[in-house]
Amino acid sequence: MEDDIIYLDHAAATPLVPEAATAMMDAYRDAPGNPSALGHSGRAAARLLEEARDRMAQALDFTPERLVFTSGGTESVGLAVLGTLLPRERGHVIASAIEHPAVLGSLQILQRRGFEVTLVPPDPGGVVDPERFAEAARPDTALACLMHVNNELGTVQPLELALGRVKERAPSCTTFVDAVQSLTRLPLEPERWGADLVALSAHKVGGPRGVGALVTGSRRPQRIFGGGDQEWGVRPGTENVPGVVGFVAALLAAEAHRTERASQVSEVCAAFEEELRRQVPGARINGNRDNCLPWILSISVAGISSEALVRGMDELGVLVSAGAACHARAQKQSHVLRAIGLSPRLGTIRVSFGAESTVDNARRAVQTLARTVKRYAIG
Ligand SMILES: Cc1ncc(COP(=O)(O)O)c(C=O)c1O
Repeated sequence: MEDDIIYLDHAAATPLVPEAATAMMDAYRDAPGNPSALGHSGRAAARLLEEARDRMAQALDFTPERLVFTSGGTESVGLAVLGTLLPRERGHVIASAIEHPAVLGSLQILQRRGFEVTLVPPDPGGVVDPERFAEAARPDTALACLMHVNNELGTVQPLELALGRVKERAPSCTTFVDAVQSLTRLPLEPERWGADLVALSAHKVGGPRGVGALVTGSRRPQRIFGGGDQEWGVRPGTENVPGVVGFVAALLAAEAHRTERASQVSEVCAAFEEELRRQVPGARINGNRDNCLPWILSISVAGISSEALVRGMDELGVLVSAGAACHARAQKQSHVLRAIGLSPRLGTIRVSFGAESTVDNARRAVQTLARTVKRYAIG
C-alpha cells in the first residue's frame, strides 16, 4: 500500500502479513502437487496441508479432524446452514436480524424450500437479547445462528447465554456461530459458547482472500456439492494448500500478539473517538460501546450521504467503507443499520482498525473526516 494512504477498512480485508506471504511462497515452490495425488509431489502437498491443520488445531485447542477448510467465510457459512438443513424435509431456523448476508442469503434459499425462519431483532445498541433470541426457539427448531462480533457495528453478541437457552428449549437444535470478525480478537471457544459449528475466514486476520474454515464437532453438516472425498467428504474439491498454509501462518502470528494488539487497537480507537468529539461534535457513534470491540467503529453524520463521506475521504487518502463492503455498491441502508433504527438520512461510515493502525493515523483520519463534512455537508 502507498505510504501516504491511511487504510481503515480492516473489517473488509486485512493486508497479507509477511509471515503468511513467506509461508505461501514456500508452499507454492515446495509442494506444487495435488494433495490427493499419489506421487511424491502430491504427498508433499498433503503433508503441508496436514501440518497446517495440526498447527491450527493445536493453537485453538481442538483436534485436527474438527477443521474443514473452505474457500472463505461465505462458503463456511453456506456449508453450515445449508449442509445442516437441506438433508431435512422441513424445519425451523432462528437467526439474529443482523447476521452477515452470507447467513441471511442462505436462509432465503431455505425459505424458498419451505423452511420457516424467525429473525430476532437486536436492541438499539446492536446487541441481541439472549432471552428474546431463545424465546424464538421451538421444539422443531433445527438450527440457531448467532454471530460473535457484528461486522458493521463491532458489537459482541451474548453467545453463551443465548445458545445455552436455545439448547434448553430445543435440545436437538444445531447451533452455528459466524466468528469471522472475532477470530484472533477474542478467544475462539465453541464449547463455552455452546456452538456446534463455527465459521472462520483467513483474510480478516492477515491471511489470503478466498480461504476459510468451518469448525465442526460431533455434528458435521452434509456436503452441499458433489466431488471427491477431501475434507472428510464434507467439502469436496482440491484443497488450496498454499492458501491454508498462509491462513495458519497469519493466525499463529496474530494469536502470538493478541494481547499487545488489543491494547494498541484500544488506544488507537480511543484517540479516534476523542478527536471525533473535538472535530465533528455532531457525529454519533452507533452500537453499544460498552459491548463492542475497538476494532470497528460505525459513525453517522447528518447532512451528508454515506457515499459522499466515503468518496470524499478516499480522495484525501483515507480508506473507510459505508457499512459493510458487500453493501458498498447497493447504495441503500444496510439491514444492520435499519435493524438498530438508524435514520437512513444520516451518512454512515465504518472505520476498522488493524495491526498497522497508529494513534497519529487515527487523528489524521478524523481531520480528513472533518474536512469532508465541511466540504460536502448541506445545512
Ligand atoms: C461476519 C462475516 N461473516 C462472513 C463474511 C464472509 O467472509 P468471506 O469474505 O471470507 O467470504 C464476512 C466478510 O465480510 C463477515 O464480516
